[in-house]
Amino acid sequence: MNSTRPDFDGLARIYRALEWMAFGRDLERARFCLLERLAGCRAILLLGEGDGRCVARLAQAAPQARLHCVEASGRMIARASRRLDPTVRARVTFAHADAFAAELVPGSHDAVVTLFFLDCFRPDQVERLVAQVHPALTADAPWLWADFSVPPRSWRRWRARLSLWVMYRFFRWQTGLPATSLPPAEAILRRAGFVTAEEQSFQGGFIRSVLFRPAGRGR
Ligand SMILES: C[S@@+](CC[C@H](N)C(=O)[O-])C[C@H]1O[C@@H](n2cnc3c(N)ncnc32)[C@H](O)[C@@H]1O
Repeated sequence: MNSTRPDFDGLARIYRALEWMAFGRDLERARFCLLERLAGCRAILLLGEGDGRCVARLAQAAPQARLHCVEASGRMIARASRRLDPTVRARVTFAHADAFAAELVPGSHDAVVTLFFLDCFRPDQVERLVAQVHPALTADAPWLWADFSVPPRSWRRWRARLSLWVMYRFFRWQTGLPATSLPPAEAILRRAGFVTAEEQSFQGGFIRSVLFRPAGRGR
């Protein structure tokens, strides 16, 4: 298996149910809580979109945007496609591809969305992907990111570590996930020149959603 392309086909049908059993509505909250900030965008890139819940909501939040999803799982794309209302379907394109191999036109997107996606990869892979995607963005494009995180203290830190230990083993077994633990994606985005514009946390900081903006570009 290609080391940057875990296979989520086998989980596509039960992905949502698994998520709800493990986290209730909190992943959904993390996905949606900052989507409205992209309301004025015109061309949004979604990497590892999954089963289409984000793109369907984003199509409403950003009514003028074209939405380009790069997704490696054909079954996830099929589910996402079915979820879309015919009136928004024309604004959405799906590339059935490895995001690491995607050919992106320089400056072609004014926002990028990665939700529970960068945590699939090793730190060196996240760095590579961020460096590869960055030139495809306009100078003031935000990066909307959500992932798991280890809270800094308290019993929640240990609960998060235990949950992540179980999750990484499960997803490596089921999909061939390249990551063995959580990569420092927020730090990598900061090193790439992004700063936190807005953030929300769920489950005591175990789940985080951050709107990053390029440093010096304001809101
Ligand atoms: C953990 S799921 C997250 C899905 C969704 N974004 C969400 O919020 O639940 C990771 C998704 O990324 C896709 N994926 C994994 N590696 C990929 C790659 N290299 N290129 C494109 N998509 C990829 C998987 O097929 C899967 O749909």
